[in-house]
Amino acid sequence: MSKIEIKNLYAEYEDKNGSFLALKDISFQVKEGEFVSLIGSSGCGKSTLLSILQGINFPSSGIAAIDGNPITGPGTNRGVVFQHYSLFPWMTTRTNIAFGLKQSHQNLSRRQRYETADAFLAKVGLSGFGHKYPYQLSGGMQQRAAIARALAMNTDILLMDEPFGAIDAKNRTNMQELLLALWEGDGKSLKKTVVFVTHDIDEAIFLSDRIIMLTNSPGQIGKEYDVPFPRPRIHSAMREAPSYIHLRNMLMALFYDENSGKAADGEYVI
Ligand SMILES: Nc1ncnc2c1ncn2[C@@H]1O[C@H](COP(=O)(O)OP(=O)(O)OP(=O)(O)O)[C@@H](O)[C@H]1O
Ligand SMILES: [Mg+2]
Repeated sequence: MSKIEIKNLYAEYEDKNGSFLALKDISFQVKEGEFVSLIGSSGCGKSTLLSILQGINFPSSGIAAIDGNPITGPGTNRGVVFQHYSLFPWMTTRTNIAFGLKQSHQNLSRRQRYETADAFLAKVGLSGFGHKYPYQLSGGMQQRAAIARALAMNTDILLMDEPFGAIDAKNRTNMQELLLALWEGDGKSLKKTVVFVTHDIDEAIFLSDRIIMLTNSPGQIGKEYDVPFPRPRIHSAMREAPSYIHLRNMLMALFYDENSGKAADGEYVI
């Protein structure tokens, strides 16, 4: 059984002018421990899809299920990083993380929660910023703190909506490597199941087992690509490989060519 199943899913938004179809007939599955990226142009419905997996939005028809059970609301089995900063403004950075842990790990003592919070702040390069409030941090720092909160919760499933979008190139590379290290774990326990939204094709290739391309208006499944590169992955080595350049060029062409998703033979030549 797949960890996540989306089947013939439609999502509509209602407003006073009528309804707007954001997602049309979306079907895909994510296996336990699989890292899947969704890419597609702005407005194609990526955040809508993630909000349905999170359980704060619901399909108008079709199925969105986890472990075979339709999603009925948010759950502590899912860690979420939103596209926009999502720290509670009235809590310090470390209390934000400790609060996440209080929801997901009710057996932890207060001291353990704060120790874990501080450890994860260190992992994302924010040691010494735990006592600051979100407004005292830059946008990229806030986003790193939100990522620390989701990672600290150590959930089976991670839903990440452009989590590294506001982060500078150097920290972004570090965060990608941290995410993969946590995802791969000790090699003994089961890996997390990750659904990751990004606009960045290099990031999608570096991180993912599989990339699903969405087409626009309404959002539909375009093409899917397996990313065959072995793990652990190293940025510098991967980017020089001819197979990497080939996959990257193919995805770039698809991303920038509106009609390419409709190619009959599935081949994309640039
Ligand atoms: N609450 C809402 N009410 C009405 N329409 C909405 C709402 N949220 C999103 N939409 C519409 O649904 C479509 C998909 O939006 P969504 O935010 O899922 O796109 P996205 O792929 O995440 O885009 P981006 O890459 O810019 O974040 C857009 O056309 C958007 O205008
Ligand atoms: Mg979005």
